[in-house]
Amino acid sequence: MIQYRENGLYPHDRQRIAEHFSRAAKTYDSAATLQRVVAQRVMLNLPSDIEMTRILDLGSGTGSQTAELKPRYPGAQVVGMDMAMGMLQYAERQLPYNPFSWCSGDIDALPFANSCFDLVFSSLAIQWCESLSSALREVKRVLVPGGHFVFSTLVAGSLMEISQAWRQVDCYNHVNQYDTFETQLQQVAASGFESDLFKQQTKVLYYPDVSFLLKELRALGVNTVTKSASLGLMTRSRLLAFRDAYENLRSPNGLPLTYQVVYGALRKSN
Ligand SMILES: C[S@@+](CC[C@H](N)C(=O)[O-])C[C@H]1O[C@@H](n2cnc3c(N)ncnc32)[C@H](O)[C@@H]1O
Repeated sequence: MIQYRENGLYPHDRQRIAEHFSRAAKTYDSAATLQRVVAQRVMLNLPSDIEMTRILDLGSGTGSQTAELKPRYPGAQVVGMDMAMGMLQYAERQLPYNPFSWCSGDIDALPFANSCFDLVFSSLAIQWCESLSSALREVKRVLVPGGHFVFSTLVAGSLMEISQAWRQVDCYNHVNQYDTFETQLQQVAASGFESDLFKQQTKVLYYPDVSFLLKELRALGVNTVTKSASLGLMTRSRLLAFRDAYENLRSPNGLPLTYQVVYGALRKSN
């Protein structure tokens, strides 16, 4: 059963992001190639040989990583939290006889008491939050002393081909404004966490054409979603101009789409 833990409604932008992800729940896994690869890398940074009692998966989406955490720490209670109800409902249906709890909530204001998780895991969700700092503040609060935070997020340079192509067409922000790696590094240093790992890795996906690329992004729930900007009316002529501009970026492998992924493994000091 899903627990409703948030305090009141989310701000308008959050509501909009949550609705997009909710709508994409059924198609998400079929398009989540990058997300799966990134999540597997995050899993490599999990602490081993440590007894865990309670684990939290932040931005758990369709629940595939929530499910994967359980066999790694068989004695632990694993909680999947997301702000998209559609994602939580999908996860619960996919894993009906599961030992997990599902919970709705916002990473920027976690609906949990202080010091109640031994491990917080999160893959590719924090980039949708206010900032890495605010996520770090909340995660630190809910971790027990000595608890671990293992995660991935995105930094500046991600989806740069989409920004570049749209800049030829209009002056809206079509892509989230990501912090630079250096800014995030400073935020980690200021957070009081001990850092075991914080590194950036570039991943480029290639697509046969713009329609395919946009279809994949739509299946993931992120096609026209930015954290705040209004994009104006999406007319056919603007889309065609975007497609032509993107075609100029074509490489022998196809149309590139870059993700700048950051991997972190942090510890709350004792
Ligand atoms: C790209 S998906 C990643 C899902 C999963 N972790 C994966 O790697 O497949 C991002 C998820 O984070 C959730 N999300 C985004 N912002 C959030 C926030 N502020 N609080 C809670 N969940 C959030 C979205 O609803 C979505 O399910």
